[in-house]
Amino acid sequence: MTDKIILPEHIGIIMDGNGRWAKKRGLPRNMGHKKGAEVFVDISKYCKELGIKWLTVYAFSTENWKRPKEEVDGVMNLMRDYLKNMKKAANEQVAVRFIGDKTPFDADLRAMMEEAENADVGEVITTVQIALNYGGRDEIVHAVKEIAKDIAEGRLSAEDITEDTVSARLYSGTPEADLIIRPSGEERLSNFLLWESAYSEFVFMNVLWPDFTRADLDAAIEEYSKRNRRFGGV
Ligand code: IPE
Ligand code: IPE
Ligand code: MG
Repeated sequence: MTDKIILPEHIGIIMDGNGRWAKKRGLPRNMGHKKGAEVFVDISKYCKELGIKWLTVYAFSTENWKRPKEEVDGVMNLMRDYLKNMKKAANEQVAVRFIGDKTPFDADLRAMMEEAENADVGEVITTVQIALNYGGRDEIVHAVKEIAKDIAEGRLSAEDITEDTVSARLYSGTPEADLIIRPSGEERLSNFLLWESAYSEFVFMNVLWPDFTRADLDAAIEEYSKRNRRFGGV
């Protein structure tokens, strides 16, 4: 790393490339998701070691339901495994939150998600937000509905709506993303953090997520450190 490293407070990662990783090896796609889940666990630990405050990972989008049932079930079962292991490793100073619409998930999974969110992890260093059944547009629609309800029930008037009114009703309870990393070679957001990425720095990387290492995160942070963030100013 160079001498002047600026640590982003909030990193977003689009964990993409699991399918291609598996295909390259002649394995079923779900093996790619399995390896990807292991990488996620290690990168969360590394974020804690680095002192990153917020890590938001894109695990399953509102569009991913289009995939074959077998693949969708596989991803949900990996989430169950992750949450079970999390429980054993509690008190690790990493808090877990889920963002996205939880309503379509099976009751057992929802209960596990809530349990993880309420777990006592000691003094929190990193909060990991897992975007599951998450869509940036869905998040904004959800916020708009809440605002409409607040107006209809007399808690808010239309004239008083500001950007903060919207921000406060998003699924994610974090400041905006400073750095968004997308491995896999694709260069698009695919409906990730639309509102929260207004001034994010983007780093696209040619590595598939299951091959992503701590050194790749270092490289992305190093690249971020070289950027000149102006936020519209001079
Ligand atoms: C991302 O990897 C994981 C999920 C969307 C669940 P992909 O499964 O999209 O991997 P590729 O893009 O097909 O390689
Ligand atoms: C984005 O990846 C969603 C996740 C990584 C969870 P996709 O693989 O679904 O995105 P597209 O289809 O390539 O845009
Ligand atoms: Mg993909």
